[in-house]
Amino acid sequence: MVAPKTEEAIELLRINGELTSKTLAEVGKWVAPGVTTAKLNEVAETFIRDHGAVPNFLDYDGYPSAICASVNDVVVHGFPSDKVVLQEGDIVSIDLGTLYKGYNGDSAYTFPVGEVDAETRKLLEVTKASLYKGIEQAVAGNRVGDIGHAVQSYAESFGFGVVRELEGHGIGRDMHEGPGVPNYGHQGRGPRLVEGMTICIEPMITAGDRRVYLARNGWAVHTADHKKAAHFELTVVVRKGQAEQLSTFDFIEKDLEV
Ligand code: MF3
Ligand code: CO
Repeated sequence: MVAPKTEEAIELLRINGELTSKTLAEVGKWVAPGVTTAKLNEVAETFIRDHGAVPNFLDYDGYPSAICASVNDVVVHGFPSDKVVLQEGDIVSIDLGTLYKGYNGDSAYTFPVGEVDAETRKLLEVTKASLYKGIEQAVAGNRVGDIGHAVQSYAESFGFGVVRELEGHGIGRDMHEGPGVPNYGHQGRGPRLVEGMTICIEPMITAGDRRVYLARNGWAVHTADHKKAAHFELTVVVRKGQAEQLSTFDFIEKDLEV
């Protein structure tokens, strides 16, 4: 069994979750046509360091940047670049995290760039809603498969694809801990969820076919059909009855002060 966290550890994860959430909101303010993803990386890294934390993606397995900025058909792990200029109608998935006092934050949000078409809006809405469907299942006594099943059945009911090659994970002193949290599965299967387990749930959902390939840089994951993909991620604590969120999209969506 994956060990549950102490409340002291959860408090440190909560602090990281809040800073991660605020950083996503800060980056979101800069998302607009004409902006490069390198600029978004700079905004995030400065914000994280100004708050006394470190971007935990930087140098993770050799990853070269503070954030992943994945545009349109890039599902995840897009390198920020001064050559990638956001265009009206694009979507950009921003994935980032913090390391503070030995614990990690990790969350992602897919932003529309200006006005996007109706199908793309639906993709964003359904991917985010599928994440909340997963969170509803992150309660003590359930199993990891209950989360994946909830995400998958919801996303597929709209005809979207669920990426199989990547999954959510436990989080703590390491950004990636057990258990793996797939976005597909069967009810009642997989490891038991125990109160105090801290996990990241992160559906990666495609507008078309679910199949993906790895780019030659060894990181960027693209949809095989080059249709758009969305990615939303939150960190939660498994509790009895209802999961507790350690990160939130409220700073992005409710325009709270960051
Ligand atoms: N944040 C990703 C995840 O959600 C991992 C990013 S890999 C990194 O699990 F190398 F960029 F850090
Ligand atoms: Co993650």
